[in-house]
Amino acid sequence: MLVDGFKRRINYLRISITDRCNLRCIYCVPPHGERKVKHKEVLRYEELLRIVRIAIKLGINKIRLTGGELFVRKGIQEFIPMLASLEGLDDVSLTTNGVLLKDNLDILRTAGIRRINVSIDSLKRVNFRLITRFDYFTKVWEGIGKARDMGFSPIKLNVVAMKGINDSEVLDFGRLAIEQPYHIRFIECMPIGLQVNSLAFIPNSEIEKALASKFGPLIPVSPGHNDGPAKRFRFNGGQGEIGFISPISHSFCQDCNRLRLTANGVLLPCLLSDREVSIKDPLRRGCLDEELIEAFLKAVNLKPECHPLNLDNDQRVQRKMCSIGG
Ligand code: GTP
Ligand code: 5AD
Ligand code: SF4
Repeated sequence: MLVDGFKRRINYLRISITDRCNLRCIYCVPPHGERKVKHKEVLRYEELLRIVRIAIKLGINKIRLTGGELFVRKGIQEFIPMLASLEGLDDVSLTTNGVLLKDNLDILRTAGIRRINVSIDSLKRVNFRLITRFDYFTKVWEGIGKARDMGFSPIKLNVVAMKGINDSEVLDFGRLAIEQPYHIRFIECMPIGLQVNSLAFIPNSEIEKALASKFGPLIPVSPGHNDGPAKRFRFNGGQGEIGFISPISHSFCQDCNRLRLTANGVLLPCLLSDREVSIKDPLRRGCLDEELIEAFLKAVNLKPECHPLNLDNDQRVQRKMCSIGG
């Protein structure tokens, strides 16, 4: 079992499958794109499976695949079923931008994946294009609708609300959570990379207030045993949920249960810290399993108690979100 220096049990591994993406969201990637990790530096699927088998032995039972955008990587359709069939995992899920979702839903369902998280920061085509720099709103929206019709549940929709950009759509998202079974999660914009001016930051308390005054009180939903950092609510009579992920205004680090693995084989103890442990180096030296276990233990021991950001400190983390996967 993995337990860190602050007595937190680590049972959740987020795996970034690739740093490449078919969108360039303004809070994530600069307009001209990012320097890509070289092909040979990216962990191969068989290397990933070896790492995951070790992680399971150490008590990891929840895995989330992220990117960049995971569906742009070749071979992902074969990898997902192999991963999902590994003995010892209770929860395998993914976070996608939804552009290629529609054509991959059958594969996900066959692999036994029942729930998905999709990033969608706008319900309007023009705003979607402004934020993502691509005109793919319809594709994403169709993918989400098809996932709902196929019975995926929950479908969590991640929204990074930014002042002057998409904050005018907060009530539209609220209405969506009433009329449809989606879980809309508002994520406070984190100062990772250098793209969004900190003036665009909106604390989730503002969004909560606006939603409650329009649609009535937000009723707390008790957390599930495998929940991430979102505080969950629903509206009276609403079909879906509202979630608030508030890393800046209300740190949730005391309950942190996660490690991240980047596409180029680095274990990250914390999203908002520059600490890292290479697992690719021992792996490619042809090491025994013990050395991989060692890399996990080292990463867990490096977990900080909490990240340093708050409403008065927006010191920037240098690593880019597209290489971490959120
Ligand atoms: P589930 O609750 O299991 O569905 O997962 P999740 O909410 O952890 O997954 P998702 O990838 O949808 O996460 C949504 C966003 O929350 C991420 O993209 C991050 O922006 C933020 N987030 C997730 N985990 C962390 C974390 O450990 N620290 C911080 N600061 N933010 C996080
Ligand atoms: N702040 C908050 N969330 C972010 N995401 C990407 N960049 C940021 C940021 N700077 C979220 C996206 C997506 C997930 C992978 O990470 O909205 O849902
Ligand atoms: Fe965990 Fe770091 Fe996220 Fe805090 S900021 S919850 S310590 S990963």
